[in-house]
Amino acid sequence: MNRKYRKTVIAGNWKMNILPSEVKPYAEILKAAAGRVKFCDVVICAPAVVIPAAVKAFKDTRISIGAQDVSEHDAGAYTGEVSAAQLKDAGAKYVIIGHSECREYHGETDRAVNGKVKVALETGLTPIVCVGETLWQHEAGASLDLVRAQVKSALYGIPAEKARKLILAYEPIWAIGTGMTATPAHAQEICSQMRAVLREMYGARIARAITIQYGGSMNPGNAAELLAQPDIDGGLIGGASLDAEKFLAIIQAANQ
Ligand code: PGA
Repeated sequence: MNRKYRKTVIAGNWKMNILPSEVKPYAEILKAAAGRVKFCDVVICAPAVVIPAAVKAFKDTRISIGAQDVSEHDAGAYTGEVSAAQLKDAGAKYVIIGHSECREYHGETDRAVNGKVKVALETGLTPIVCVGETLWQHEAGASLDLVRAQVKSALYGIPAEKARKLILAYEPIWAIGTGMTATPAHAQEICSQMRAVLREMYGARIARAITIQYGGSMNPGNAAELLAQPDIDGGLIGGASLDAEKFLAIIQAANQ
């Protein structure tokens, strides 16, 4: 991470876990220590229906709430979808877009990811845009080309003054929920290449200012080493964010 140029952001991704009634006890643990957190922003991305309870539980703290997906449409006949305006009105400030689970289980395409990023930025939500390769692509040596293409298509047509507001997350699919973390060197290499794409698209000043997270089995044991890499500016944490104590330990690693 490079605090001189950009924010460190630690985001929890609760996925399809935690009931609205379970948020309060979780928040008590985090709130007790959150006052000591100076050097990073903390976000919790909750299921849409849990967002109001999370917003209430973390009111008047420095912890922000995010969503895990958003419709690429503004409003209308899209049964089951949730719009950016609805998320914002419910109190969300961030939204994960392009998570590999949405790409895989909901057939979310690069084109849809691009549409969602645009709608989120227009609405004033901060997108956390996920990219990453499968194990097969990783073993074939295709990680770099794939991730570069994903970044380019996710940000296609987005002007520099908007792009500077978003966050990118490198999440190798083979590391998500598997306990197999990318080595800090591999994660750094890909994140630095993602920044190189940003430089090509927007120039050095904007590229230097955009937060790039790593996600994939980040935990209290490996967080410090991953976060020490110069192009890794935070984490997107699934499993370990479900346990408030573990999530807190990762937040503390980002504050060293
Ligand atoms: P994990 O999930 O930390 O459980 O690997 C990360 C993510 O999917 O965002």
